Amino acid sequence: MKATMVLKRDHQAVSGLFRDFERLPDEDIAGRRPLVDRIRQELDLHLRIEEELFYPELERVPEASDLIREARTEHQLVKDLIAEIARLDPTDLDYVAKVEVLRENFTHHVEEEESEIFPLAKKHLSGDRLDKIGDQLENRRDELMRQARKAELA
Ligand SMILES: [Fe+2]
Repeated sequence: MKATMVLKRDHQAVSGLFRDFERLPDEDIAGRRPLVDRIRQELDLHLRIEEELFYPELERVPEASDLIREARTEHQLVKDLIAEIARLDPTDLDYVAKVEVLRENFTHHVEEEESEIFPLAKKHLSGDRLDKIGDQLENRRDELMRQARKAELA
C-alpha cells in the first residue's frame, strides 16, 4: 500500500475514535479514559512512524521542507497535550475540553497533511518509492505494537 494510503487509514481510525469520544454520554465518565488511551496509542504510533520514515523522505525536497518543519512542531504540541490529558483525572472539568483541543489539533494535522504534504509526496516520490515507504510504515507499526504489548506484559 502507498505510504499516503497507510497514513490516511491511520487518520481515519483516529478520527473515528474522536467521534466515539464525542458520542459518549456526559454521565459516562468511566468510558472516557479507555477511549483516550486508545487515541493516545494510535496517535503515538502514527506520529512516530511518520517522523521516523515518512518525513525524512520529504525533508530532502526543498519544496516540502518548511511544511515538514511545521508538521514536526505541531506533532510536539499534540504530544504535549496528550501527556497533559494523561495526567488529568477524567472527572476533571478540563478533561473533555482538552480532548476537544486535541481533536482540533489532530484535524488540523490531517488537513495539512492530506491537502499539502501528500500531494508533494506524490509529486516528488515515485509510485514504487511510495509503496516501499508504505511497507516500511506498516512493518514499523507492527514492531512498535509488539514492543508495547511486551512492555505491558512485563
Ligand atoms: Fe498524519
